[in-house]
Amino acid sequence: MKVKTLGQFIIEKQSDFPYAKGELSRLLRDIGIAAKIVNREVSKAGLVEILGETGEVNVQGEVVKKLDIFANDQFIAAFKAGGEVCAIASEENDDIIPIDSEISKNAKYVVAIDPLDGSSNIDVNVSVGTIFSIYRRKSSSGPGTKEDFFQHGTDQVAAGYIIYGSSCMLVYTTGKGVNGFTLDPSIGEFCLSHPNMSTPESGKVYSINEGNYLHFPEGIKHYIKYCQEEDMASNRPYSSRYIGSGVADIHRNLITGGIYIYPTTTKSPKGKLRLLYECNPLAFILEQAGGMASNGNKRIMEIEIKELHQRTPLFIGSCKMVKKSLEFMQS
Ligand code: AHG
Ligand code: MN
Ligand code: MN
Repeated sequence: MKVKTLGQFIIEKQSDFPYAKGELSRLLRDIGIAAKIVNREVSKAGLVEILGETGEVNVQGEVVKKLDIFANDQFIAAFKAGGEVCAIASEENDDIIPIDSEISKNAKYVVAIDPLDGSSNIDVNVSVGTIFSIYRRKSSSGPGTKEDFFQHGTDQVAAGYIIYGSSCMLVYTTGKGVNGFTLDPSIGEFCLSHPNMSTPESGKVYSINEGNYLHFPEGIKHYIKYCQEEDMASNRPYSSRYIGSGVADIHRNLITGGIYIYPTTTKSPKGKLRLLYECNPLAFILEQAGGMASNGNKRIMEIEIKELHQRTPLFIGSCKMVKKSLEFMQS
């Protein structure tokens, strides 16, 4: 069988953008390289001193693990060395990281990133991920600014995620469908394994942290009961699956059909997940795969963004299931 590597695929797809000069292709290639380095560290996390907590606290007030820092540093280094990006926004950094260097001064893009998603799973050998989102800059030249990130999700040029799981996968979109690549460790290359990914209209899986049940809005409580009811026609009861790494839960649901919800809770009245580097890129991927993403009453990618670390509730997955959950929210 002939394999197609991520590098080959990106070059072939460059003709989809006749006016582009290859910067986006190079940027995607750089992300692939950084992903391989992070994957190497994740897979030996049990072996080396990288495990454990640094004792520092990130801007969200959560405990930061060493691997979060490692992944953050790797991606930032890759973007700085690549020269295609004029600023970075990361979950791990309070403010944006403007890039002020000779090679980046004409860079067209900004990148928002969750370098390590699912950090509570690092220590226990459960899948974690990286989420990225790429925008064209709005400022004209020099280092990028915060305003460059204040765009709608619909303005994303590309987005994707990497799963460091039983195998390592990179899934991305440039707005022309979704393609998935699996790392073949024997040759060290991401190979096209999931061309033209599409999500079923409906599925059998619902993913939500039911431990927060008492703190959920009434609509969510009713929807959970709906998922648990017996009904042949709609294939219920659904199965409950929740890993706690959003990337892995949403990736599984994309393939099998399903819904992932992180609603508001009384503890997190604005939701927990971040719009810029978690929800918008995942929404772009899911929509491109034929699915849907909402905050409960509005399309995720049309939400106005006012803060880098803005939070939002998230309802994402198969169209029919997301629509049903929204009916419960609205009634
Ligand atoms: P991160 O590790 O980047 O902070 O993100 C974790 C997110 C998401 O991936 C996951 O589904 C969710 O938070 C888990 O949160 P709970 O433990 O509150 O369910
Ligand atoms: Mn995350
Ligand atoms: Mn994270």
